[in-house]
Amino acid sequence: MSNGLLEGKRGIIFGALDDKSIATHVAQRAVDQGAKIVLTNAPIALRFGGIQELGKKLNSEVIPADATSLEDLENLFSQSMETLGGPIDFVLHSIGMSLNVRKKRAYTDINYDWMHKTFDISAMSFHRVMQTAYKLDAMSEWGSIVALTYIAAQRVFPDYNEMAESKSLLESFARSFGYHYAIKKNVRVNTISQSPTITTAGSGIKGFQEFFDYAQKMSPLGNASSEACADYCLSLFSDLTRMVTMQNLFHDGGFSSMGLSPAVLGLEE
Ligand SMILES: NC(=O)c1ccc[n+]([C@@H]2O[C@H](COP(=O)([O-])OP(=O)(O)OC[C@H]3O[C@@H](n4cnc5c(N)ncnc54)[C@H](O)[C@@H]3O)[C@@H](O)[C@H]2O)c1
Repeated sequence: MSNGLLEGKRGIIFGALDDKSIATHVAQRAVDQGAKIVLTNAPIALRFGGIQELGKKLNSEVIPADATSLEDLENLFSQSMETLGGPIDFVLHSIGMSLNVRKKRAYTDINYDWMHKTFDISAMSFHRVMQTAYKLDAMSEWGSIVALTYIAAQRVFPDYNEMAESKSLLESFARSFGYHYAIKKNVRVNTISQSPTITTAGSGIKGFQEFFDYAQKMSPLGNASSEACADYCLSLFSDLTRMVTMQNLFHDGGFSSMGLSPAVLGLEE
């Protein structure tokens, strides 16, 4: 159901790969709420076809951009402003990839070249996106920039490996750049710390299903779904949250505040 929350707004959505991607849900719901969007992903991800299909369905242009390339990002922002007919009101950074996780390297046996690449793709890309928009003056006054993160930035989840530090860096970029963007143009920058979600990136983590079930029991409201995450993103893109910036916001059914859950011990109330 639409209530026109994003009517007249222009957005760029990074990271819709297939129908499970959190970004796919955000894109669908943003368009439902009246936004015009551009979809983007790494050139290699475009080969799988899911994003092109989504683009057709949402009547949205798909512009390839590798988030590790400044040139690609400059082209993306310039082209998006042209296609959408003005400056950008919201951006979703929904990008994550760990080479050491993908290649099953233990945290105590890290390959540092891969770690560099992981930080570049998963965290520095967020700074790069913001710096590009900042220099091109591509964001509207009171625009909103959101990135997705995970609680392993604050607490230890051993199988999350080097993604833990990637997310700490990502969240720190939101605070630091959030300052500069607020001063320049009242642009808000926040991260949403989402529950474990069954997606391509999510299920690359060892023991993901077991962990998903554990988090489900540990969270009084249960794990937050992709659809619920999309709704939360929309609220941050909307004009209803104009004074929220430089925050890491937990969207996790209460997981982050729990110490012990009777459900985990099999002692359901
Ligand atoms: N799934 C979870 O459990 C979970 C939980 C919390 C946070 N997150 C975060 O949500 C975000 C989206 O992940 P998802 O779970 O929807 O999985 P996903 O695999 O669908 O999305 C990850 C995206 O990153 C893109 N990407 C990878 N390298 C790129 C590059 N060089 N340039 C541009 N794009 C690139 C991929 O093509 C893909 O679209 C990630 O930041 C992830 O860490 C996921």
